[in-house]
Amino acid sequence: MSGPTIQSVSSQPATNLSGRIAVPGDKSISHRALMFGGIAVGETVIDGLLEGEDVLSTAAAMEQMGAEVIRPDQPGGAWRVYGRGVGGLSEPTDVLDMGNSGTAARLLIGLVAAHSFTTFFTGDASLNGRPMARVIMPLAQMGVGFQTRSEGRMPLAVIGTDQLVPIEYTLPVASAQVKSAILLAGLNTAGQTTVIEPQPTRDHSERMLTHFGATVVTEETPDGGRRITLTGQPEMTGQNVRVPGDVSSAAFPLVAGLIVPGSAVTVTGVGLNPLRAGLIETLKEMGASLTLENERTEAGEPIADITVTAGPLKGIVVPPERAPSMIDEYPVLAMAAACAEGSTRMTGLGELRVKESDRLDAVARGLEACGVSIEEGDDWLVVHGIGGTGNKPKGGATVPAHLDHRIAMSFLVLGMAAETAISVDDATPIATSFPGFMDIMNGIGASISGA
Ligand code: S3P
Repeated sequence: MSGPTIQSVSSQPATNLSGRIAVPGDKSISHRALMFGGIAVGETVIDGLLEGEDVLSTAAAMEQMGAEVIRPDQPGGAWRVYGRGVGGLSEPTDVLDMGNSGTAARLLIGLVAAHSFTTFFTGDASLNGRPMARVIMPLAQMGVGFQTRSEGRMPLAVIGTDQLVPIEYTLPVASAQVKSAILLAGLNTAGQTTVIEPQPTRDHSERMLTHFGATVVTEETPDGGRRITLTGQPEMTGQNVRVPGDVSSAAFPLVAGLIVPGSAVTVTGVGLNPLRAGLIETLKEMGASLTLENERTEAGEPIADITVTAGPLKGIVVPPERAPSMIDEYPVLAMAAACAEGSTRMTGLGELRVKESDRLDAVARGLEACGVSIEEGDDWLVVHGIGGTGNKPKGGATVPAHLDHRIAMSFLVLGMAAETAISVDDATPIATSFPGFMDIMNGIGASISGA
């Protein structure tokens, strides 16, 4: 966010939203571009990098381990990284602070694991409470040592070695972070490291590792999963990377444009990797007027401009197998569901409980406070939409963000379509993934300000 740090912010009902905007670069791709640039030989040039706090944590960590990271003279310019070669990172002289970022922490734990030094990781209160056993278990099988807080939580130390053994590992949870951590450890490990995922998850690591010169083979399994095999110790060379707009950030103006009557909003240059595009399909099933234009491929990732026009939405059943392709979008989908006519049933949401916050609980309690009726189970949520002509959620509440950017942005979006303003108690986490959120939304007709 620009300007002074504002803790509590309030979103007033909007009359309509209209405009053509771009959102910051994709967070998942930005982390990987800095990491892979840092272990490639030569220069990597990154255009469109997300300059949010999460990604800046990754940049700082790569510098602490010897990669040269040159920031642009002006915000929004190209970043340059001069890497150390696969296996060439050096021992950081201090603890690596990953802030709020699970992606930075889990992927870097994998990356340092195959280096013969010890690395200490910490994070904020949210990250230090999140499960790390999911990466520790496979990496320990490869030969990595760990010292952790109870139940494998951070702060933790990774006792790495360049003598890891390659493994074949079936993911017990659908997680691109766990898959990527294993593949990154496999990079400096002789032989073939294989990850089997019963449900396909975002494949940015596989795409970008290939772009940097590694050999990654992906095969479909008979039951609809994927088997990904990386050949260790590749020559990786610096590349140009163009980061598309983040579909997970675009989700906020798009849902806002659908639920604020009279709106028409276009978000340009949005990455639409098929393993990330579940929200688009879901909104269409709800009856959204949503069109894709200017579809193209840049740096191996599909991209499009997306236009939404406000109109009635209807409640639907979102199938559980879609969860990995829209896992970060359920909070804002729940806001669309709150404004729809009929009930929306979402299942297969167990992973929402271990994100930056327990998102299932945060969404459920927040919606109730805003006058929307819900039903909630261990891994499911039903939102009873308030929709129908002229019907709006009551709003009028202050919702706790729980150090979670997507919870904060979701309820600010709902405030635009509610009868009375909705506030969030702490909007500072928004800077982790969507710097400029308030200015961009206010630029198309929202009214978000310090509460
Ligand atoms: C991410 C994977 C997902 C997602 C996160 C980013 C990534 O997490 O929620 O925001 O970049 O690999 P999980 O792997 O825990 O599902």
